Amino acid sequence: MSGRLRVAVVGLGIGQLHARAWRKLPEHAELVAVCDVDPAKAAAAAERWEVAALAGLGEVLARDDIDVVDLCTPPSLHDEQVRAVLAAGCHVVCEKPLVGSLAAVDSLAEAEAASGRQLMPIFQYRFGHGLQKVKHLVDSGVAGSGHTTSVDVAWRRRADYYAEPWRGLWATELGGVLLSHALHALDMLTYIAGPVHRAFARTTTRVNPIEVEDCAALSLELADGSLATLSATLGSSDEITRHRFCFTELSAESNPSAYANSGEPWTITPDSPEAEARIAEALADFALLPEGYVGQFQRFAEALRDGTDPPVTVADARNSIELITALYVSAREGRDVVLPLPTDDPAYQGWVTST
Ligand SMILES: NC(=O)c1ccc[n+]([C@@H]2O[C@H](COP(=O)([O-])OP(=O)(O)OC[C@H]3O[C@@H](n4cnc5c(N)ncnc54)[C@H](O)[C@@H]3O)[C@@H](O)[C@H]2O)c1
Repeated sequence: MSGRLRVAVVGLGIGQLHARAWRKLPEHAELVAVCDVDPAKAAAAAERWEVAALAGLGEVLARDDIDVVDLCTPPSLHDEQVRAVLAAGCHVVCEKPLVGSLAAVDSLAEAEAASGRQLMPIFQYRFGHGLQKVKHLVDSGVAGSGHTTSVDVAWRRRADYYAEPWRGLWATELGGVLLSHALHALDMLTYIAGPVHRAFARTTTRVNPIEVEDCAALSLELADGSLATLSATLGSSDEITRHRFCFTELSAESNPSAYANSGEPWTITPDSPEAEARIAEALADFALLPEGYVGQFQRFAEALRDGTDPPVTVADARNSIELITALYVSAREGRDVVLPLPTDDPAYQGWVTST
């Protein structure tokens, strides 16, 4: 595909940040429309960005001047909306969580293949410069093999956050702190340390009067034999996110910024002078691209231009949904769950319907 991508952003909560990010890529994309079922939100965003205000996905898909539809709507709408966009012949970007079951994500992968268009799920935290450097050290063999990973996701969400009616309910949010808030941190964990082999989760609801969990503690065995822990809460007075990776040749610890910890600064400590020299050599010419949504959208535009895979694929979203499925099964049944989950496992159809 050549030329600038013409983009419509649908759903104008976090979608406002998507619109701003697309606007930062004038060489790659043109924001042509914003859309929300709330007319006041659509009108305000349209005025801000000087683009068309549309009232629903139907109005977006009726136009013939849109290449990419960027879905930032509540999670329970993603499945149907992604299908509608692909069927209309547009590429689609979709906020996390992509969908609420392995069956749904596999079906979407088939719809994507049949459409000849690309579906890119969002995992914008992958592109933080600190995390990108650690990823490069792991992929180039400099980090060595993994020992342990520890992750803290300590955020604060109270009644005002749950005033939005879709939040806090299994049917519409599809999950709690694990799915809605710690999903990025889990993706960062597996992006660096590799896939999970065996998962154990304890969850509870202690912070807010909601259906879904708002505290969780995980114990994971990864496919390479290393171990990982993650604790997540929405009841922390002081908000932090922190990752700490311990490899044979180095340890790497993120900064504790709750919503930017994949960016710099990270502390990378070599295990020896030789490791220090190898790290310096590996990072000397390492080129950094933009971070966050801008970084993910730029890579996406370049992938469409070059005919390559998007920077986050449906397979990546599948891996995160498979891990989430295992965690909810583990929490409910009080047992270790081994991955991969077979397609004849009842949980393949989703953790919400299996309650
Ligand atoms: N990647 C991240 O860091 C990140 C951060 C926040 C939210 N999210 C995800 O983004 C999605 C939206 O979350 P949010 O916090 O922005 O929610 P929100 O409720 O603040 O905003 C959603 C918007 O979608 C609109 N909407 C609802 N149904 C619609 C429809 N059929 N057509 C068009 N617009 C519709 C609503 O009016 C609302 O303005 C969720 O999946 C959430 O998990 C991701």
